Amino acid sequence: MDKNINITVRVWRQKGPKEKGRFETYSLKEVSQSASFLEMMDILNEQLIAEGKDPIAYDHDCREGICGMCSLYINGHPHGPDDSITTCQLHMRRFDDGDTITVEPWRSAGFPIIRD
Ligand code: FES
Repeated sequence: MDKNINITVRVWRQKGPKEKGRFETYSLKEVSQSASFLEMMDILNEQLIAEGKDPIAYDHDCREGICGMCSLYINGHPHGPDDSITTCQLHMRRFDDGDTITVEPWRSAGFPIIRD
């Protein structure tokens, strides 16, 4: 049964293609394990906006596992810990209370970082 979890999210932040990036660390409380990973990112962005901070920019489109736009590196793995799924099909039930989750952009010369 899904529950709410408290997590720490380390996110690569980069203001532009020529800017030096860095990890920033955020705490999120009471995240439903029923939420998708991108819904968790939306919640984090709502928190950042409420705090007067820039939201995290990340690419996505369909959120149905079809388009392949949601290309995040999660804990060192493309699209996260599961095989053969996209980031938008990953759910927070794959994570435990107290986990630290590291989120990075897809690093490839063919997909240069525009922001975050
Ligand atoms: S947003 Fe389309 S596959 Fe994830």
